Parts: sequence; C-alpha cells; structure tokens
Amino acid sequence: MRSKLNRREFVKAGTAAGLAAAAPVTAFAQGPTMMMQSGSRPVVVASGNGQQYKNGGDKTCVETAFERMTKGEDVLDALIAGVNIIELDPADTSVGYGGLPNAEGVVQLDSSVMHGPTKRAGAVASIEGVRTPSLVAKRVMEETDHHLIVGDDAQRFARSMGFKIEEDLNTERSRRAWLEWKRRTDPLHYLDPKKKQLALRKVDLEMMAEGWVDPNHFYGTVNCNGVNANGDVCGVTTTSGLAWKIPGRVGDSPILGAGLYVDGEVGAAGSTGRGEANLYNLASFLIVEGMRRGLHPKDAGMEALKRIKANTVPRLLNRRGDPSFNVNFYVVNRKGEYAGVTMYSSEKNRVRYAVCDEKGGRLEFADPLLQGDPAD
Ligand code: GLY
Repeated sequence: MRSKLNRREFVKAGTAAGLAAAAPVTAFAQGPTMMMQSGSRPVVVASGNGQQYKNGGDKTCVETAFERMTKGEDVLDALIAGVNIIELDPADTSVGYGGLPNAEGVVQLDSSVMHGPTKRAGAVASIEGVRTPSLVAKRVMEETDHHLIVGDDAQRFARSMGFKIEEDLNTERSRRAWLEWKRRTDPLHYLDPKKKQLALRKVDLEMMAEGWVDPNHFYGTVNCNGVNANGDVCGVTTTSGLAWKIPGRVGDSPILGAGLYVDGEVGAAGSTGRGEANLYNLASFLIVEGMRRGLHPKDAGMEALKRIKANTVPRLLNRRGDPSFNVNFYVVNRKGEYAGVTMYSSEKNRVRYAVCDEKGGRLEFADPLLQGDPAD
C-alpha cells in the first residue's frame, strides 16, 4: 500500500501536525498504520477521476492528496496538489488543460476552494488560458478580500499573480471533438428552436455513444475533499464545465454552497454532474447542514438528491417522470466518515468515486437514489 505510513513516517507526520497524545485508530496485521487525535480519521474522497488520471506520474489525485496531508501538509494544499494532476492531464477532457471547450471552441474553466480551519474561500469562473484554475482560486482566497473573480478579469488577476497565460487550452483531441460537434449541429440547419433543441440533444447522445465524449464527463469536473487527523476539513472543485456550453455559462463548481461547501466544524461536500440542478438547490450547503443536524454523510447526500428530484422542472423529466440528468456528491464529515452518492447508477453505468485512507487509493460504488439511466 503506497500511501500507508510506516512508523518513522508517522512520527514525522505527527510532529509536523503538532500531534501530542495521539491514539491508534486501526491496527492491521502489519502494525499500526494510522493514528488520530480529536476523533478524526484521515481520508480523502473525490469524483471517480480522482483515482483514474496520473498525468504520467505514479500517483492519482486522492493518493497524492492523502500522502501529502498525512505528512503534515495543509489539507487544502494537499488536495489542490491532487487535483492539479488532473487539471494538467490532457487525457481528462472535463478539467483544466484539454477540457472540452464551449460552443465557440474556447476552453473556459471554473474552480473553488474552501479552507475549513480558517473559514476562508476563493473561486474563479469562466477563466481562460490558465491550466490550473484551482491555484488561481487559492490566490483569490489568500490575496484578496473577495471570494469570486470572473472572466477576463480572473485571467488578468492570474497574470498579475505570475501565472502563465496560454492562448489556447485545447488539445488535438478536444478540438477535434468540438469540430465534430459543430459539424453535426450547425444551427443554420435548425431555424425552429424546438427542432434545434431536439437535434442538439440527439447529437450529444450520439457523440457519447460513439466515444467522442465520456458520458460521465459531459458536465466534467473533479471535486476532492479531505480531513486530517486534527479534524481540519477542506475541499476543492475544478472543471471545464458543460461541454459546448454557451460562452460565459458558469456551472455550480465555483459557487460556494453549490459545487463545494466546507464547514470546518462539520464537514465538506462537493459535486459533479448537472450544475444547474445543483445551483438551484445549493445542495452542497444542504448536505453540510444535514451533517450538522447529525446525519451520516450518506443520509445527508440522499436528502439533497431527493430535494433536487423534487425540484426538477417538467422539461427535465424523463419518460418515467424522474430527472433526465445525473448529479453526484462526495461527502466527508469531520470524523472522517464519508460517502459518494449519485442520482442514478445502473448495471450499464455503475457510478464510482475515489477514496484514499490508510488502506490506500481505490474506487468505491456510489449509493444511488434511483436505479437505471437518466435518459431511459
Ligand atoms: N458540475 C459542473 C458543471 O455543471 O459545470
């Protein structure tokens, strides 16, 4: 197990974190592997891509974050180092460099970060030209008295902070996918708005079925949340947002309470999937409030999914009268209890999420509110 601490590393980690009277949590046959103080069991949770991409390295997002966090690094810094791997990896077409562009072929990125122990937050929306928007969001948190900077001004802010600005964050793959989408949906062919809407939806489904777009990544995003042995809770969400979006469209990811919410006394929640459904319900905030009332992360997540389902407008219902989209939440409380919940999971497309704790990085099945596929 790569991420397990040996006794020497543990002593170092404990020292770095200023641990005094730690007590063993889990004793495996190999000996004690993790200790905790203040009743918190260290864990990192993320969307499934958090245990998928390595950008040529040897560790995933959650493995990197967990290792750094348990060596004493600030939890938010550790989580951001984890998601940077995905932001920089051109193979993930839903986050950072190589994320699927907007309808004009421009990659626009959203990100938010929240630091529970110090009650600080920062975010950027619709930023272009910076591969790692999570690091810009962190600078908003650290260097300004604000929580959100958007568009060209977010890029100007990043430039002033010394970030490299690039002309174009498309890769060959994302550009080819966009050109194919343009070819199939040429709006001049659909003057009747209703017909155009149906045609667009049909093209989206076809392009997913043909492998141009990963169905789990149509709305993109990685969310990653963690808690260390001190009970420090933090979170980060970063995305290229909805594929082929109207330029300037901002989803849930950079909005505190929607794509991410952290309360240092309670826990953290964040999301992937249809951002508009989450924005309307501020579901990450709702989940953290559920945990504040004593709900387990899974029950708090289910409560939010039920709220989203109840608030879904008729045009977004499928033939069964259920939501025609998916949305997922990754939840951890201050004790280190965690859950991944999803509106839908099916035999064909079982939704999984990433976890790393003393047992190492892995994917676990998310708990679904509904069985089946949204489009059926
Ligand atoms: N959840 C990501 C988005 O809707 O932009």
